Amino acid sequence: MEIEKISKAWDWSKADAPAWLEPAKEAFYLLERWKKQGKSRFMDYGCGLGRHSLFFAQHGFSVKAFDLSREAVKELQTKATSLPIEVKYSDMHHVDYEDACVDCLLAYHVVSHTNEEGIRLVAKEIYRLLDHDGEFYLDLCDQSGWMFTKSGYPHLDKSTVISQEEGPEFGIPHLCVTKEMAKEIFADFDILEIEERITYDGDLRERYRHFWILGKKR
Ligand SMILES: C[S@@+](CC[C@H](N)C(=O)[O-])C[C@H]1O[C@@H](n2cnc3c(N)ncnc32)[C@H](O)[C@@H]1O
Repeated sequence: MEIEKISKAWDWSKADAPAWLEPAKEAFYLLERWKKQGKSRFMDYGCGLGRHSLFFAQHGFSVKAFDLSREAVKELQTKATSLPIEVKYSDMHHVDYEDACVDCLLAYHVVSHTNEEGIRLVAKEIYRLLDHDGEFYLDLCDQSGWMFTKSGYPHLDKSTVISQEEGPEFGIPHLCVTKEMAKEIFADFDILEIEERITYDGDLRERYRHFWILGKKR
């Protein structure tokens, strides 16, 4: 199957939008880290409504952003008029931006929306888009989490399940990996950190497990 055929945008009309309008807490750390390193060109890889594009642009970065959701792209275009943000409709497997065009890249809850074949293309694209010494931060679903071990969701391939949860992610693929697979997928980069994190709901029931990866282009 062609890789673009498994891609599916979020249905943002079904999302709890306010929760996606504030930058994630990791963005504050990354902003300081990348400012200190003298980086100034940021990519929001699968930008959604653009909370991180807006945050980095408001703090002096030039921003390139894209998403597969036309509604999300339109919404960010409307908000970005007076800021240095370029935003397009594009697929993360073949991104419509030039080589080495940014020096830092955030893909927040995005790159697991593919399969075993697709993640290889994504790793290649991130390598291509980053300039020398460029850094990325992203997460991948963890195979030890509920979605892979207990959900009973149908499989697309050995490591990929298709979410059946009602809401914006219905029908969207979720690649779930082990730590070893994550390291192997990003073997062309220096992996600076892999953190395994569990997200609980308000009643302390486990919701998700992810690997959060900070990497650098050699
Ligand atoms: C969980 S949302 C995160 C949005 C944003 N990164 C944030 O943190 O607010 C995942 C986003 O990935 C996008 N997405 C899914 N598959 C994609 C693909 N193949 N190419 C580009 N974007 C994709 C969805 O449309 C959605 O906007």
